[in-house]
Amino acid sequence: MAKNFDVVVIGAGPGGYIAAIRAAQLGFSVACIDAWSNDKGGPAPGGTCTNVGCIPSKALLQSSEHYEQAEKHFVDHGIGIKGLSMDIGQFIARKEHIVKQNNDGILFLFKKNKVTFFHGTASFSGQVEGGWSIKVSEPASEDLIGKHIIIATGSAPRALPNLPFDEKQVLSNDGALALTSVPKKLGVIGAGVIGLELGSVWRRLGAEVTVLEAMPQFLAAADEQVAKEALKSFTKQGLDIQLGVKTGEIKTTSKTVTVKYTDSKGEEQSLAVDKLIVSIGRVPATGGLNAEAVGLKLDERGFVAVDDECHTNLPNVWAVGDVVRGPMLAHKAEEEGVAVAERIAGQHGHVNFNTVPWVIYTSPEIAWVGQTEQALKAAGREYKAGSFPFMANGRARALGDTTGFVKILADAKTDEVLGVHMVGPQASEMIAEAVVAMEFRAAAEDIARICHAHPTLSEAVKEAALAVDKRTLNF
Ligand code: NAI
Repeated sequence: MAKNFDVVVIGAGPGGYIAAIRAAQLGFSVACIDAWSNDKGGPAPGGTCTNVGCIPSKALLQSSEHYEQAEKHFVDHGIGIKGLSMDIGQFIARKEHIVKQNNDGILFLFKKNKVTFFHGTASFSGQVEGGWSIKVSEPASEDLIGKHIIIATGSAPRALPNLPFDEKQVLSNDGALALTSVPKKLGVIGAGVIGLELGSVWRRLGAEVTVLEAMPQFLAAADEQVAKEALKSFTKQGLDIQLGVKTGEIKTTSKTVTVKYTDSKGEEQSLAVDKLIVSIGRVPATGGLNAEAVGLKLDERGFVAVDDECHTNLPNVWAVGDVVRGPMLAHKAEEEGVAVAERIAGQHGHVNFNTVPWVIYTSPEIAWVGQTEQALKAAGREYKAGSFPFMANGRARALGDTTGFVKILADAKTDEVLGVHMVGPQASEMIAEAVVAMEFRAAAEDIARICHAHPTLSEAVKEAALAVDKRTLNF
């Protein structure tokens, strides 16, 4: 006998679990299905973000950052350490503990909000009276009927042709977060978000890291000035980033991975590494849905095709997050999840794509919201720019972390903030102020007139806003 729900959410990543909670808050009966299992075979809701993405990578980034601080920077404070050691097993155990806390937290939130959770794979079996019939299998075995379905099945790492991930030598984000020793030589293909974050983790712990990037430009999506500063800083730290390369044959033996490539000068090169991270983007995960059987439309790149409001081509079937167009970011998925739940309730859920922040958790951190300077130039928009370096910020000096700057771009006539770009300490936290400002359509002068606590890094945001009007006070 099938169980009926108002809303059935497929996938419990940030898009799915948040949609399920919001739908339950709005009074719907809600089921959420997720197949991810932990090493004991139990449910591990939270998707890529919680299990092999945002959360575990930040746990390891923190451990590696502490190690590097102790190794290289404590001495500046007059702190000497003898016999500094590293226990990668403990790094990984701590990371896994944090992941488990997050998995359990989601299960707790489901209980609290009366969302019924099923551990298994969900697939469409057809349209029936009252909605859509969904089959749940392995390990659960259930038949559900949902009046509304929200697809939030996320994405999977894209492999290079003829080089499947074995997660031992050829690693996706998954394997790269589970290494039990520091590789002597680590190769990374793709200088995107994953390659830079994970390359940084293992470099700090002592790996010799070479990053091979196909594009001639570093971090093409970021503001050019930010990308330039970040590249300078990463190179100084010892990351070997090679741009404009064309990878060729890749051979693996039991101990080595050898990558043949043509460098930007057109010369043939060969790189031999112990481990290779392949981080060349991700592909939408629609495999288990049985989408063809019900006529769910995918776009030419395999994403579930949706309109601006996340409707698919099927009535009352919605899709959110990485499995649909737009940036593959956990917070974008969450916003879409909330908006869809509210639309189902007849409300006017809205996602403002212009104010979705981007963050790259390297050191220095990189964060931005809105338009880059190169995009404004290309669009012929007249703008003013103001920058402030962390070098001139008292708190950054006290922290011992003065790399980078904050840059604000504002409309030349109205002074409306069009983009905010940061590279430097705590940029991931500070970008929130810029998002609020842009969401409220603030002028640069509005930010400049707000009282910022002293001494804080956020004063650099205020000073950058002052710089838009050429009147910084501390630079
Ligand atoms: P990405 O799209 O950020 O970067 C992939 C890079 O690989 C690009 O620079 C591309 O030019 C390069 N590339 C592609 N094919 C190549 C080849 N054959 N040889 C050399 N280079 C090649 O993808 P990434 O890093 O895999 O991340 C996937 C998704 O996950 C992204 O959309 C990202 O936004 C998201 N993500 C976000 C995080 C965050 O917000 N902090 C953290 C991790 C992932």
